[in-house]
Amino acid sequence: MSNRVVTEAVRSLTAAEITELCLRHTLYDWSAQAGLDPMAIADAKGVHFTSVDGRRFIDFNSQLMCVNAGHGDRRIIEAIKAQADRLAFISPFMATEPRARLGKKLAELLPGDIDKVFFTLGGTDANENAIKMARAVTGRPKILARYRSYHGSTGSAIAATGDPRRWPNEFSGSVVHVLDPYHGVARGTDPAAVALEQLEETIRLEGPSTIAAFILEPVAGTNGILIPPDGYLEGVREVCTRHGIQMICDEVMTGFGRTGRWFAVDHWGVVPDLITMAKGLTSSYVPLGAVGMRPHIAGYFEDHVFWGGLTYNSHPLGCAAALGTIQAYEQDDMVGNSERMGAVLAKRLARLQERHRCVGAVRSIGLFGCMELVRDRKTMEPLAPFNGTSPEMKAINQALLDGGLYTFVRWNTIMTNPPLCITEAELDEGFEILDGALEIGDRAVAG
Ligand SMILES: Cc1ncc(COP(=O)(O)O)c(C=O)c1O
Repeated sequence: MSNRVVTEAVRSLTAAEITELCLRHTLYDWSAQAGLDPMAIADAKGVHFTSVDGRRFIDFNSQLMCVNAGHGDRRIIEAIKAQADRLAFISPFMATEPRARLGKKLAELLPGDIDKVFFTLGGTDANENAIKMARAVTGRPKILARYRSYHGSTGSAIAATGDPRRWPNEFSGSVVHVLDPYHGVARGTDPAAVALEQLEETIRLEGPSTIAAFILEPVAGTNGILIPPDGYLEGVREVCTRHGIQMICDEVMTGFGRTGRWFAVDHWGVVPDLITMAKGLTSSYVPLGAVGMRPHIAGYFEDHVFWGGLTYNSHPLGCAAALGTIQAYEQDDMVGNSERMGAVLAKRLARLQERHRCVGAVRSIGLFGCMELVRDRKTMEPLAPFNGTSPEMKAINQALLDGGLYTFVRWNTIMTNPPLCITEAELDEGFEILDGALEIGDRAVAG
């Protein structure tokens, strides 16, 4: 048979056709489908992306806080292409060069003595498997998690999620939620000692010997860039060690430079028993997640079966993409850039708070930042309620898009999480658009 390739002149779809077909035949996340109007995207480069109908946006959220290296990085693309040419897929029971190299590289980068990983497809299944491992190793059923958290959309991961995405998904038991140090924009953050005392009390009342793990985002992401008070993570580490509870740090969003260190726990010198990652691992060019484990967990599975598996565990394209991504981070010192540009971002956020009455609080660590908008600077009433929105927040979001800035606007928060390759001039481009849109919020502020 000849290698004849059948080609057909295919006309490109218009923006309207793409949107219409996507809505008709594919289901969108976290939404009732009627009324959705997803933007059709053509391409992306660096910190910008362009819609099919020709509009250009600065990406101030790295999509879902995940395209850490920026869009269209040739090093990542070439790594994926080269691997696809050689070996696109092979069973996870085989050994491959990208798997070998990536495992070794992650063992170097991960905190402390974490030196073995289990590869998954994303963050949700990384957390599912970390929880499964903690339960297997301890023989205990319960998982502790915090309310202001997101850990993924299936089984144990959504049950561990503390925020309202859990409410319609509560089919898997044995998760106990504890309060966070942070209590909303009006009350602010407890000192570490108070938060740790509450944690201890919950553990005492639940029974320490029934708790397998405490899963937490070192800096909570979608719930508002909640930076723990100094001493909190160190204290959690100590409490977990004392009770034989495995500490699982969910670094799906914070990992790979987002906070100005390779991992957020590095700011406090804490080494969890299990650490989960995804998103920035490949800058999301292809799906890949991982669970990193300390030697006592890895050792347990030397003579106990690991009752888990995935067809796409250690997918060659994912591993190759991760190697290309880490190379890009290292060559351009993007983790250092996250810290340096993070200092600029913190100043720009503070300036917005000075200039706009509606900006009640700002927080950031590295290029992981957000502002909380309020109706009243004295009472700190949020501009949209918990788990809700308001006409003002919707109008601000629309003004940002009209001005050419895409970001994540949730409840009363606006996120500022650009790719880690961003320059100061590009940060200024985004902050100018934010500055203009916040005037809508100012008009809603009492007094
Ligand atoms: C902290 C955290 N954990 C887990 C997840 C779930 O990851 P994925 O959507 O890749 O399954 C997310 C996703 O946003 C996340 O932010």
